[in-house]
Amino acid sequence: MSETSPTVSILDAVGQKQLTQSERFEKVRTLVHPNSTSACTALAAEVADLIRARTQENLDTVLGLATGSTPVPFYRELIRLHREEGLSFRRVITFNLDEYYGLSRDHPESYLRFMRDQLFDHVDLDPSRTHIPDGTVSPDDVYHHCLDYERRIADAGGIDLQILGIGRTGHIGFNEPGSPIDSPTRMIVLDRVTRQDAAADFMGIANVPRSAITMGVGTILAAKRLVLMAWGAGKAEIVREAVEGPISDIVSASFLQTHSNATFLLDAEAASGLTRFRQPWRTGQIAWDATMQKRATVWLSRTLEKPILKLLADDYAENGIGGILTGELNAAEKANEDTFQLLQSAVNGDVIQASGQGNTTEIKKILIFSPDPLDGIVGMGATLARLIAQGHDVHLAIQTSGNLRVTDSAARGFSETTKGLTALDAASDSSSAMADYANEILRDLDEKGEFGTDSPSVRALKSQILRADTNQAIRILGLEPSRIHFIDASFYENGRYRRFRFDEADLVPVRELLDQISPDLIFITGDANDPSSPQRIAFRIFAEVWQTTLDSHSTVWLFPGSGKPYGAQESDLSVPVSPDQLKQKADAIQRFRSVGADETADTITARDRRVATEYDTLGLAEYEAMETFRRWTPLSAADHQ
Ligand code: GLP
Repeated sequence: MSETSPTVSILDAVGQKQLTQSERFEKVRTLVHPNSTSACTALAAEVADLIRARTQENLDTVLGLATGSTPVPFYRELIRLHREEGLSFRRVITFNLDEYYGLSRDHPESYLRFMRDQLFDHVDLDPSRTHIPDGTVSPDDVYHHCLDYERRIADAGGIDLQILGIGRTGHIGFNEPGSPIDSPTRMIVLDRVTRQDAAADFMGIANVPRSAITMGVGTILAAKRLVLMAWGAGKAEIVREAVEGPISDIVSASFLQTHSNATFLLDAEAASGLTRFRQPWRTGQIAWDATMQKRATVWLSRTLEKPILKLLADDYAENGIGGILTGELNAAEKANEDTFQLLQSAVNGDVIQASGQGNTTEIKKILIFSPDPLDGIVGMGATLARLIAQGHDVHLAIQTSGNLRVTDSAARGFSETTKGLTALDAASDSSSAMADYANEILRDLDEKGEFGTDSPSVRALKSQILRADTNQAIRILGLEPSRIHFIDASFYENGRYRRFRFDEADLVPVRELLDQISPDLIFITGDANDPSSPQRIAFRIFAEVWQTTLDSHSTVWLFPGSGKPYGAQESDLSVPVSPDQLKQKADAIQRFRSVGADETADTITARDRRVATEYDTLGLAEYEAMETFRRWTPLSAADHQ
């Protein structure tokens, strides 16, 4: 923050490194908010203070801006401050971090277009004072363009406050692993992981540009103040590496540790990998309740690679968790047994009983929400099959059509098959109508070209193809397709990746379904996903409806988002999966031929096996595989915003 600003930063004491014991593993200032909304409100207030203070002194404010889903709620808050509280951007100059190379400037995924849509067009910024690297300059001109970009930043007086996100490779801007600490603005080849992460935005990895122009690490570190934002559990691991790990060009965000005024601004999920949350007993005083004791004992057992029932008092004491032991004789045995029993009681094949809803012999109404058609099967396919086999009244609600993930080749394949069929009976009216349809789809696909978007007809076809895959998959698990409720949420049909937002209209079908089925058990996911992901939005829609649902006799279980199972220490219910059930699940996943799946059935089932191995290593019974769940109580919907 500028030294001329008279206000105290809302975020923290500027430039301060970690002081408290709980933060001692963190090598850069790290602030954690319950959710991204409150974090963005605080940051926007700081930025507004900075702009107002400098404007009053007749100075420009130079902001460094970022793209991606992360800053979207921050930009929305700036727009609100402009509209409702008169915040003016007339004295603001902006420099964006980066731009894809080779995209036309008005392509929906170009960062110029992104910035116009998300901020520039909604505030009183002078377009001539906004700067974004130009991804359309010829290869010969890139070098000079980059030099010129650096010069413009310098001419503006340097960046007062630079906003950053973080990619899964730990990049800031597009500074992929290997970027030196003093790198300048330059052309960079994008990492495979980065391109994979952008695949959904571009409807397939093949359409993602291979290179970009980005401010360098050196350019970024030259800013007077840096704020790196990150939301969602998907960022937890890389945030931990950047904040607690060594300073290294493998994770370019770790270079923020060298800056005297950098802050990581996180929501609870993105912060969950930090030692103070993951292993709080290592960072301060602990009130040892049963949950904390379970977490610490599981950690101890894993660290020492020793089954829980064999842990000794010395093991507890020597690893800093002696506080669990009461001081009595046999205290370690008691602590071991307490945790063992807790873990044991979470392992249960009788989901109805575990839900406190009687037992398996009673037929229950069960509603499973799957944000994308695949999510429910990846997260709990075997449990789903088990519940169906037990004769329960199982319903599956598919919240979004998932059509953005269906490959062009699936749509092309369908159209070509249709054309082939119509040729068999070319004279009939219905054949010619079908042939016209197939030709229209093929033409749309051809015309779409590189980086293009699907026509409404192509998207409609892709939805139907994915429905057919879903029906087949679900039959393998024993469920009749008539039990599937396709919601086709409008937020998804009308949105783009990283920019989805929902409104009242999205609540209606979920409310109707809950009224219609009145389930005893509900399964849902997405509570910890990235806030802009379809999964998290689908979860928030459910949570909002749930707040206003009077009849709440149902038990709500969360299944893990992004397929990553809950660890033994955090799972409230772990359902054993037999070898046959696991095979059934793998077969079901393999039905989804039309989507460019992120993971194969083998990877997914291997993960389910690892959960079982983990229980085995802790000294519990050895199963083939397990699916894990957590109980959900809507303590505060705000936590999930
Ligand atoms: C891209 C951008 C980065 C951004 C990252 C993460 O790679 N160049 O600036 O931080 O994506 O994106 P998201 O915020 O959508 O997770």
